[in-house]
Order: sequence, then C-alpha cells, then structure tokens
Amino acid sequence: MKTTHRICVLPGDGIGVEVIEATLVLLEKLQQGSGFELRFSTHAAGALHYKTTGDALPEATFEAAKAADAILFGAMGWPQIRYPDGTEIAPQLDLRFRLELFAGVRPARMIPGVAPILADPRAKDIDLVLIRESTEGLFASRGKGVVEADREARDTMVITRAGSERVHEFAFRLAERRKARGKPGRVTCVDKANVFVSMAFFRKVFDEVASRHPAITADHHYVDATALDLVRKPWTFDVMVTENMYGDILSDQAAALIGGMGMAPSADVGHDHGLFQPCHGSAPDIAGQGKANPTAAFLSAAMMLDWLAERSGNEALAIAAGKLERAVDAVYATGSIRPYELGGKDGTAAIRDAVLSDL
Ligand code: NAI
Ligand code: MG
Repeated sequence: MKTTHRICVLPGDGIGVEVIEATLVLLEKLQQGSGFELRFSTHAAGALHYKTTGDALPEATFEAAKAADAILFGAMGWPQIRYPDGTEIAPQLDLRFRLELFAGVRPARMIPGVAPILADPRAKDIDLVLIRESTEGLFASRGKGVVEADREARDTMVITRAGSERVHEFAFRLAERRKARGKPGRVTCVDKANVFVSMAFFRKVFDEVASRHPAITADHHYVDATALDLVRKPWTFDVMVTENMYGDILSDQAAALIGGMGMAPSADVGHDHGLFQPCHGSAPDIAGQGKANPTAAFLSAAMMLDWLAERSGNEALAIAAGKLERAVDAVYATGSIRPYELGGKDGTAAIRDAVLSDL
C-alpha cells in the first residue's frame, strides 16, 4: 500500500539552500512510480530570516516542523548575524531541544573512490557512527551562561540520568542493528570521566545500559585520546556515544577523515521526531557560487527515507534509501566526479546530475 509522508523542508541559509534544492530533485525522482509519496512544504527560518524579521524560528515554522513526519534541513547561521549577547542564530539547536532530538547520529563511512585523506590503506575501512547527545551536556548552558562583572564567565555541563539512558540505549540498539549486517557490535563511551563528575556519571549510566546488552562489546575512551585515535586508527571504531560538545567537535573531525563536511550526513532523532541534515553549516566562503558539495545532504535524505521506512513499516522507503546510497557510491566509484572540496571541479549541479542519471 502506498504511504504518504509530510516532509517539512527548512533550507535555511547559504549553501543550505543550494544543497537542499539539489536533494529535492533526487527525492522527486525516487518517488516517481514508487510505493510512497513525499509531500514537501518549505518554511522560513535562519539567520537571514532573523535579519529581516527579528525572528530566527517563526512559531508557524516550528509548528510545521512538529506536525511533519520528518524534517529535511539545510544549514542555518551566518557569522555576521548575531544576537545582542554575541552568540549566533542557531534554530537547529532550538529544534533539537524543543523536539527532544536527543540522538545526533553522525556516520563517517569512507566512500570507495573518494581520494583518501589518511595515507594508511586501512583508511578505506572507516565505517563508524558517532552518536552525539543533543539535548543537554555543555549545550544545556546555551542562553544561560553568565558573565559576572566582566571578570568571570561560566557555562555549566548538565548530564541527567534520563538524558544519558536514552542516548546510550539508542547507541546499543544501533550497534545491534549494525552487528546483524556484519559490523563488530561495539559501543565506545567517549568521556572525560577522569576529571569531571558529570562525565563519571555519564559513564556510570553507560555501564548500566551496557549490562542490558550483553551481545555488544562496551568500552570507554577519554575524549582527548579519542581525538588522537580518530586520526591514528579510525577504522577500529564502530559506534561511539558522547556528550553534546565533545560530539560537536569529534563529528567535524570524523567528517574530515572521509573527505570533508560536504561528505558527512547526519540525523537528529528522538522518540517522536526526526530531522535530517548535512553536518556542515552555511559555508559563507563558498555560498552563492555553486561550489557546495551536496553529497552529505543526499546521504542525509537517504537516512530520512530509512527512518521513515522503519517508522511506517513501508519497505519501499528503505529500498529508495538503498538506491540513493548506491547511486552516490556508484558516482564516486567511477572516479568521474571530484567535488571542489576535494580539489576537483565539480559543483552542486554536476554532482546532482551525476547521481540523478545513475538513479
Ligand atoms: P561550515 O560547515 O559552514 O564550513 C566549514 C568549511 O567547510 C568551510 O571552508 C566551507 O566552505 C566548507 N564546507 C562546508 N560544507 C561544504 C560543502 N557542502 N561543500 C564544500 N565545502 C563545504 O562551518 P563554519 O564556516 O564554521 O560555519 C558557517 C556558518 O554555519 C556559521 O554561521 C555557523 O554557525 C553555521 N553552522 C550551522 C550548522 C547547522 O546548520 N547545522 C552547522 C555548523 C555551522
Ligand atoms: Mg558543529
């Protein structure tokens, strides 16, 4: 039976608009003659919207995102557009908190044919997923940090039992699903439990959750050593789970390992909502030039289709997700496409057309 899904599209700022435009072309193609229908509706939000209206995330946009079956997101933010306290406009953070998108899923898989960043031949085996807790941690302090008398500033890390349990549980379930597909079945808790009580608590809850998943190997790694090993031997990681700020940093590092921000997809999911977006920002340095690599956005759309498949039970969506992923792989495997980001001459339209023709 054909299923219908409402997709709230939030292109946002800069190259967010460019990569989403390209992604919608592929999704339209995928749904032609398929067993599902995607109903897209595009809504305004972001830094430029804030500049013209004083509102970064209009309530109508938030309500549309909340009511939708999934949210497809470009990028938001612009370094020169800021709130009076000096911080940037970041509706993506508001959405994570307000829709309780607690699991930031950041896969880093080396696509065959993409010029490797690391010289070690084992780099072709990089296939890890970083889970970034996205509703608390150091980001709990967002909008609440204090500066006292221009002398001292403070941001506080908040780790709750409920927040940790749900994200660890998510990581173990993911490791189980990956294990069924031949992956090692391991979850690494990335923390700083040697120094901070908040992180020792995060680890303690991790160990409790781990005991409920005996088929999965559970281990721990300090965040600084993780930064080292992500360069030294990233192919040894399977699923990683970490606090919000550490995950913010390490997921950019993981993106670099597979070719840059334009290659790294992500999903922000909770129990009730899912938002899918490339890991990158609005890239003001290349915005408006047609140079953005849309691959991360394509792969994020594939994650969205997969997620909708699981929630609706409609296998047609999972098939489309697989098709899209394989088309991206096929395009890079031929070696004919090389994004600007990787020293090539292929921009958004060329990469879109290559994937489209494979589809
Ligand atoms: P960025 O991800 O926009 O750019 C970092 C570097 O990677 C730049 O050199 C950029 O040209 C390059 N890059 C990023 N995506 C690319 C792509 N698809 N193809 C080719 N090259 C790409 O991060 P940056 O510069 O720190 O932030 C720019 C703005 O975006 C800021 O306002 C920031 O707050 C916002 N931002 C928003 C995010 C979101 O919406 N989720 C995430 C990260 C940043
Ligand atoms: Mg970031």
